[in-house]
Amino acid sequence: MFNTGILSIGSYIPKKKLTNFDLEKILDTTNEWIIERTGIKERYIVEEEKASDMALKAVENMLEKRIVKKEEIEMIILSTATSDYNGYPSTACILQSKLELKDIPCFDITAACSGLIYAISIANAYIKSGIYKKILVVGVEKNSDILDWNDRNTAVLFGDGATAIVVSSDSKNIIQNIETSSNGENYKVLIVDPFIKMEGKEVFKYAVKEGSRLIEKSLNKLKLSKEDISMYIPHQANIRIIDGISKKLKINKKLFYSNVEKFGNTSSASIGIALDEVIKKELLNVNSKVVLFAFGAGLSSGIVLFEYNEKI
Ligand code: UT7
Repeated sequence: MFNTGILSIGSYIPKKKLTNFDLEKILDTTNEWIIERTGIKERYIVEEEKASDMALKAVENMLEKRIVKKEEIEMIILSTATSDYNGYPSTACILQSKLELKDIPCFDITAACSGLIYAISIANAYIKSGIYKKILVVGVEKNSDILDWNDRNTAVLFGDGATAIVVSSDSKNIIQNIETSSNGENYKVLIVDPFIKMEGKEVFKYAVKEGSRLIEKSLNKLKLSKEDISMYIPHQANIRIIDGISKKLKINKKLFYSNVEKFGNTSSASIGIALDEVIKKELLNVNSKVVLFAFGAGLSSGIVLFEYNEKI
């Protein structure tokens, strides 16, 4: 079995900013309510771009770091709930064409906000078994397309964005554990048909319970204590969910990274956008153990625990 690690990362945030004050003009809501109940102050949305355009920009951002060469990519796994076309082709194939990469397998996956973690877990399995060495994993969401802009319960929560990660056997940022889990009996509490409809409280409760359970499970498997982790990077849905998990696990909330204030919930892109920001701010040291974890529609959840040893 080969080691796997996170070799490089990039991200993309669209230009158009939408503040809570902008939303006050179109919805029966207030800046105070949104900040108090979610922690979100602003989010960014695309105008003309499609998911594949955002994905391409995230990949280009990653390639600029010159850690990975485009031609080295052997597979693309893309997570999105807002593919360019309904059904098919996959947005991964459209991205492949935009990247001008020939003869590599490309496909999309659906695991909502847990999608990036699920995609990493698939890439991890391919690489561990020796089939490939470098797999591009993308999380991209054009949530603005599937929001009912008359529904204050959901419209204030989400934003658009993309992230690109290369998972590889050539990385020293070794992935030490991955857990994924689903809870299909609750599928109705968060659906897109054709717009996002959500029983917020149910998702909230699941997120706190499941996030805590997965963190404990992962730490127990590796015989690590909560203090061995330098940073927890959760899916960015609501600051109260993140605080709820830190409180339940009795972990200092300063160890939980959050940028939900700036970007809202970018679904399967959120963890990558947050990790990229953490790297840019140089918040990790060599040997830092990092926990990425997600929860979302399905219901679904997942965790990746890796050790940071070299710049991504
Ligand atoms: O990525 C995973 C996807 N989703 C999530 O993670 C979301 C999880 N859930 C949540 O984050 C929270 O449940 C919400 C932020 C969605 C809602 O917060 P809450 O504390 O659970 O509020 P609530 O749904 O119980 O609503 C409280 C009140 C209600 O009014 P009444 O019935 O008490 O009169 C809502 O109608 O707040 C009202 N409300 C709003 N008021 C102003 C709901 N949305 C808004 C709004 N502005 N945007």
